[in-house]
Amino acid sequence: MPTAAEELLSLSHKLLEAIDAGNWNAYAELCDPSISCFEPEALGQQVVGLPFHKFYFDLPRGNSPKLSTIASPAVRVMGEAAVVTYVRVVQKLDGSGNPVSVAAHETRVWQKTPAGWKHVHFHRSPVA
Ligand code: GLY
Repeated sequence: MPTAAEELLSLSHKLLEAIDAGNWNAYAELCDPSISCFEPEALGQQVVGLPFHKFYFDLPRGNSPKLSTIASPAVRVMGEAAVVTYVRVVQKLDGSGNPVSVAAHETRVWQKTPAGWKHVHFHRSPVA
C-alpha cells in the first residue's frame, strides 16, 4: 500500500503527463472544479476554475513532443491537505525543431475528498 506521499507524487506525475499529452479529461479528473492558480499565463492574477486551463488543451496540437520531468520533489501531507513542490523541467522543440528545455518551480496543493485526492491550487514561477 503506497503512503500518501507516494500517492501524491504519482498523481503529480499523472497530472504533468496529462498536460504534456493534451489530455483534458485526465487533467480535469485530477482537479477540483474550483482550482485556483498563479501562473505566468495569468499575468500576475489569481485565476479560479478550469475554463482558463481548458483554453490551452483546446488549442490545435503542435507537432512538438513535450516531456515534463519532476526534479527535487518534496511532499508534505497535513491530514486531509498536502503540498507538493518540485522543479519541473520540460523538454520540447523550438520553432526551428531544435530541442530546448525550460524549468519552473511548481507548488501544487491537494485536498483529500471522498473521491480521492483533488488538485485545488498551484503556483508556477519560471526558474530565473
Ligand atoms: N496550466 C495548467 C497546470 O499547470 O496545471
